[in-house]
Amino acid sequence: MSATAKKRAPMPDDIRAAKGGTPLVSLTAYTTPMAQMMDEHCDFVLVGDSLGMVLHGLPSTLGVTMEMMIMHGQAVARGLTSAMMVIDMPFGSYEESHEQAFRNAARLMSETGAGAVKLEGGVAMADTIAFLVTRGIPVMAHIGLTPQSINTLGGYKVQGRGAARDAAMADAVAVAEAGAFAVVLEKVPQTLADEMTARIPIPTIGIGASAGCDGQILVVDDMLGLFTAFKAKFVKRYAHLGDDGEAAIAAYAADVRARAFPAKEHIFADEAPN
Ligand code: KIV
Repeated sequence: MSATAKKRAPMPDDIRAAKGGTPLVSLTAYTTPMAQMMDEHCDFVLVGDSLGMVLHGLPSTLGVTMEMMIMHGQAVARGLTSAMMVIDMPFGSYEESHEQAFRNAARLMSETGAGAVKLEGGVAMADTIAFLVTRGIPVMAHIGLTPQSINTLGGYKVQGRGAARDAAMADAVAVAEAGAFAVVLEKVPQTLADEMTARIPIPTIGIGASAGCDGQILVVDDMLGLFTAFKAKFVKRYAHLGDDGEAAIAAYAADVRARAFPAKEHIFADEAPN
């Protein structure tokens, strides 16, 4: 699935069929311009509930609402033509019952145009995944470190180490058997991610997992250096837009205070053509 060969946005089945092939490329996006920037380069774009932390300054993803996801999902959809859009189900929107999960997943898809939803959880969520998939909702699963559960996991730690390895593998197998078309593996040891990738028939999408996964995803604000409150060890910064942006704002402020802006070479409002 190279960027140049793409003619239409992939469907969940195309993503599933990419298992074992050229690694799938994915990033999160929350706005139209960012979505436009990545559309040609990504196979799928995730409207992640990480938007609560990186855009809205929340301390975790727990405070993200359906309304926030829908508003950002609509913005991202306006920027995509070649990449599939996947949207996160926020905390509290799917755990209570199958009916609640269906109602909210259907709302996210119908109000944003997303091609699939993502939800967190392995064995515990497998029957919810099966319920949604058999009713027309493609589901991407998310196991390992599941940020909506930080209060029970005890923080943003690596998952699936030592005695927890078998349970993590059981999660991967359960979501694949339930009908998820792909699964995000967040912060699991490399050897475990490689074993999961070899064992299950759907693409594994790594984030802090292994280069051997079937694809990779990063939070775009992390890789562009826009979100600087903290940086996970696995994040590679490909740009430093936060620092560059702050320097630019400081330069503008200095120009304004020195009455050096607008500069002579810029057109003043009363000289501009109508
Ligand atoms: O919300 C998010 O951005 C995510 C990715 C980190 C996978 O779930």
